[in-house]
Amino acid sequence: MPQKTQLDNRSQHTSADGGPGPPAPIFGLTETRSELEWPAIAGMPTKPILAIYPGSFDPVTNGHLDLIERGAKLFDRLIVAVLRNLDKDPLFTLTERLEMLREVARPWENVEVDVFDGLLVDYARKRNAQVLLRGIRAISDYESELQMALMNRKLEPRIETVFLMPAESYSYLSSRLVREIARLGGPIHGLVPPAVERRFRAKVR
Ligand SMILES: Nc1ncnc2c1ncn2[C@@H]1O[C@H](COP(=O)(O)OP(=O)(O)O)[C@@H](O)[C@H]1O
Ligand SMILES: [Mg+2]
Repeated sequence: MPQKTQLDNRSQHTSADGGPGPPAPIFGLTETRSELEWPAIAGMPTKPILAIYPGSFDPVTNGHLDLIERGAKLFDRLIVAVLRNLDKDPLFTLTERLEMLREVARPWENVEVDVFDGLLVDYARKRNAQVLLRGIRAISDYESELQMALMNRKLEPRIETVFLMPAESYSYLSSRLVREIARLGGPIHGLVPPAVERRFRAKVR
């Protein structure tokens, strides 16, 4: 029998059959809480949090960048993960999308750019990430993002989706609109990082 300590509040809990075990479910949650979900004890250092920010990034915009900045501040490490297999035909190749992201993410030491395909939760498990980061610009994003987050939770309950809002000035900005404006010869200055602007100039002519 392991020694019980004051700090180990888990040892005070008993399982349904009365023996030592996980604590009773909290507030009506019926699933067994896993080791990952133990609340941190006040004053003790918490484990490093690794978050994954997945997307198409076709191309990365200043809105994405706003989220990367917030994510890099909030989490210990952030992986920007580009989806390899887009249903839609991307304007920029995977290599181009990665190059642009790597260039704009360079200032953050704790941000890495990677590629994934297949199920996001499989990739997150492989990388030992605890968090998926997604952006919500407006109510219109909410429905599909909620659906995705709940499905991902069903597939992997130990991983939480965290939503962040960009600065208001980016709330109308999307890669699709930027591609559209560029295609029609409009100005994209201020909507995307300079590195992306240059790529557009080379591509659109
Ligand atoms: N302007 C923006 N501000 C904040 N978040 C954004 C912005 N544009 C896109 N995002 C978020 O970034 C994530 C990736 O977007 P996107 O590259 O379009 O990939 P996906 O195809 O997965 O939607 C999504 O969570 C999206 O809501
Ligand atoms: Mg999108």
